[in-house]
Amino acid sequence: MIKLRVNGEDRSFGGDPSMPLLWYLRDEAGLTGTKFGCGQALCGACTVHVDGSATRACQTQMGALEGRSVTTIEGLSPDGNHPLQKAWVQYDVAQCGYCQAGQIMQAADLLKAKPNPTDADIDSAMAGNICRCGTYQRIRSAIKAAARGEI
Ligand code: FES
Ligand code: FES
Repeated sequence: MIKLRVNGEDRSFGGDPSMPLLWYLRDEAGLTGTKFGCGQALCGACTVHVDGSATRACQTQMGALEGRSVTTIEGLSPDGNHPLQKAWVQYDVAQCGYCQAGQIMQAADLLKAKPNPTDADIDSAMAGNICRCGTYQRIRSAIKAAARGEI
């Protein structure tokens, strides 16, 4: 039995340890905010935090999560008031929205490491998060606004 924490709750998993975390989150934990895009760690749609670091849930096996702590978009803040979430709303970032949970989780990891990121920092950190709707400029603006504490 694998014991882990998801969004602050203790959970156990007795299934196939090779199951991707993304499957567990969506199908067993009911946390459907995390999306499936490519399944190959190429798009970032499935980005969550594992022990506080941005991680692709589609390529993370349950067997690797014993004793570890997973945070999804649902657990990023108690009521959706993380500075990035507020900035996303203020800057009207989302278009179709499909990639955005992953974008926000990746950006949250960036701001923990670099509270005042440069354009180059943002481009580097966010390069693996694809947006088919091309919302990259609004993403960058929202990250900067959240970093400046303007929201
Ligand atoms: S679904 Fe995981 S990176 Fe694309
Ligand atoms: S908002 Fe549509 S894929 Fe990013």
